[in-house]
Amino acid sequence: MSQASVIVVGNEKGGAGKSTIAIHVTTALLHAGAKVAVLDLDLRQQTLGHFFANRAAWLAANSAEAPMPIEHPISAAGDALAKASPEDQVARFDEAFAQAAEAAEFVIVDTPGSDTAISRAAHRRADLIVTPMNDSFVDFDMLGVVDPVSLELKRHSLYAETVWDSRKQRATAERKQIDWVVLRNRLAPAEARNRRRLDTRVQALSRKVGFRVGPGLRDRVIYRELFPFGLTVADLSPTIRPVPMGLQHVAARQELRALMTALGFNGLDGAERIAAE
Ligand SMILES: Nc1ncnc2c1ncn2[C@@H]1O[C@H](COP(=O)(O)OP(=O)(O)O)[C@@H](O)[C@H]1O
Ligand SMILES: [Mg+2]
Repeated sequence: MSQASVIVVGNEKGGAGKSTIAIHVTTALLHAGAKVAVLDLDLRQQTLGHFFANRAAWLAANSAEAPMPIEHPISAAGDALAKASPEDQVARFDEAFAQAAEAAEFVIVDTPGSDTAISRAAHRRADLIVTPMNDSFVDFDMLGVVDPVSLELKRHSLYAETVWDSRKQRATAERKQIDWVVLRNRLAPAEARNRRRLDTRVQALSRKVGFRVGPGLRDRVIYRELFPFGLTVADLSPTIRPVPMGLQHVAARQELRALMTALGFNGLDGAERIAAE
């Protein structure tokens, strides 16, 4: 059995920041010297696949070097696979997953914003599920239901159910527990009241369904503007600097570092580099 740690970035809500978190966690782990394999299960959008294709092209064009993850066949076949039956998709996923877990120390899986058979299959394999959500009751709705009058938390909802099922299956099949971290993404500075209300519900839900609440990421241009180069703030260095460095970038690195620590990756060699400038 392979000992790779499997990190699944999931949320049945689109636009929550799954792919953004996946590329940032992957590049941070790569710079920490880890062997990382990536699987992009968003067969239509293929954000993760496109990001690493951009990365290879940018590095080659600029004669620069940065660590790459182990490439995965499921990405190349993504387009055709999107039209295949769920059974074929899961079979292809199982095969790619086995290869990835054999070759790498970490397998990072990016998932689509919908409930698909391969997304479920990946959730069942997770050691850690990372769920980003926007600071919004619209996103919270995927996790928990609040009373429309009192805003009290009533029960968990769709995506929390998916994670619950995955945990049950994992525990039965392998006697392993799945750790689950939920974090707020795209935090805006001027939303104090909405955030306080949401905070209370997220904390209540975290006790009810058993997830940890991770540190949030602010809404920052730097989290999206490096995408066409296939780079993240974790890559920026004196030789890799496609945009001028500013204070925002230093703050973003610190946020990314806090996230990596909360996910349990602070012990990795070279992790300090992420926050250093
Ligand atoms: N912290 C952030 N700051 C700025 N933009 C962000 C941040 N997180 C995500 N985005 C942007 O929000 C959009 C949705 O993010 P994405 O990672 O594609 O979500 P998902 O994969 O869950 O659908 C993208 O345009 C992305 O660049
Ligand atoms: Mg995505």
